[in-house]
This record gives sequence, structure tokens and C-alpha cells, in this order.
Amino acid sequence: MFQPIKIAPSILSANFMSLKDEVDLITEAGADYIHVDVMDGHFVPNLTMGIPLVKQLAPYAKIPLDVHLMIANPEVQVPWFMDAGADSITVHVEALSVPHLVTTLETIRNGGVKAAVSVKPRTDISALAPVMELVDMILVMSVEPGFSGQSFIEGSGKKVAEVAKMCEAMGVSPLIQVDGGIGVRTAPAVASGGADVLVCGNAVFKAEDPAAAISEVRAVADAARLRALESQGAQR
Ligand code: DX5
Ligand code: ZN
Repeated sequence: MFQPIKIAPSILSANFMSLKDEVDLITEAGADYIHVDVMDGHFVPNLTMGIPLVKQLAPYAKIPLDVHLMIANPEVQVPWFMDAGADSITVHVEALSVPHLVTTLETIRNGGVKAAVSVKPRTDISALAPVMELVDMILVMSVEPGFSGQSFIEGSGKKVAEVAKMCEAMGVSPLIQVDGGIGVRTAPAVASGGADVLVCGNAVFKAEDPAAAISEVRAVADAARLRALESQGAQR
């Protein structure tokens, strides 16, 4: 059945001097999540935001806070982000050994927070296999994590389709999220591959009209999703 695509604007691209207005703007424009990119200068070269911001944002936000942890040893900070009010927390497979990844995702879920796992562009999706049944969402990175405003890595749509196929084969149905370089030009490929949630940084916050940008990305992605569904139906 057709489900509209969800949009998660990344506030890393927002104007921090007027963050409250930026959050209001995307909320009123119908964004589905607020994507919070946490970087520690170790797992990725860049350093961004952390617990204090999530703590202040959580009671104010009217839509869920989707926290993307690009940090080393995320198992240490996960409980802090849960306490701070994150609604979903994503950890990277590259940041943890399999046993630690399992326990970290279980900690997130047991605390009533949505658990998600991410793969970097060069990580094979087979790395997801041990935790497919433990997650509410899988994040496929379509840029090398670390910075907003990078170019979408072509071929990411194919990777999304492979993840979707893997989920189907395993009988699980987590949301599939894509993050990095998503805009009107790149959204259709990942949406037709089976993406459910699109993270948009620069495409939304650097647009002249961020609300219109959200609607435009959603419209092209929904159209692509519908076309893909129809052609799947025709093949059956
Ligand atoms: C990259 C971050 C992304 C990024 C999105 O490491 O995880 O969320 O900021 O920004 P755009 O859409 O500009 O690539
Ligand atoms: Zn992100």
C-alpha cells in the first residue's frame, strides 16, 4: 500500500542563531522529524552538537527528534541521549563490534526509543544482517558522514533497493532512511528504491523557501514511489 514519504530536515544546515524559528518553520511545513546530526571529531572529522541541545529541543519540539550519532563508542552516550529526550537514535555499524551493537540497540529499544542502525557508503549491507530484527529503522548514508552540503553518491538508490530486498527476505519491515545530498534531483532514485524517510539538510535550509522545498522533495519522491509500486504490481 502507498505510504507518503517522510521528510527529516537536518538542523545541521539550519541557522543556529535562529534555531527556534527554523524548527517552527519546518514543523509548520509538515516535516515528519527533526534530524539531529551528532559528530564527535573522532568517528568523523567534524564536531557538531550533542546532549545539551537535544535536552533543550525535546520539550519544545512538536515532531520527533531523530538523533543520528556519528560518534565513537556510542554505547556510552546512548543512555544520555535517551534521557535527553531523543525519540529515535541511530548508531553506526562501523562504530561498534557486533555484540556491542546488539546490546546498544537493545538498550535503545528497551527504553522505549526507536532504534536505528546506519551503514556508511562503503560498508557492505551484509553488516546489517545480525541486527535486522532489532531495529525500527535502517539508515543508508548517501554521502560519507561528516559534513552537510556534499554531493549525493550515485548508486545509493541501488543500495537502498538491496536493503529493501534484504528486509523482505528476512521478513522484517524497518523504515529505510537515506541521508546525504538528498534534494529534488536525487530523491526519486532513493524513493523508488524503497526509501521511507529522506533526510534533507541544505536542500531545505539553504533554499529560498524551505517550506516549499519540503513539499517539492516530498512530491517528486511520492511520485517515484508510486511509479515503483505500480511497476511492481504490473510485474506480479
Ligand atoms: C552527514 C549528515 C547529514 C547531512 C545532511 O554526515 O549525517 O544529515 O548533514 O545534509 P545534506 O542534505 O546537505 O547532505
Ligand atoms: Zn544525518
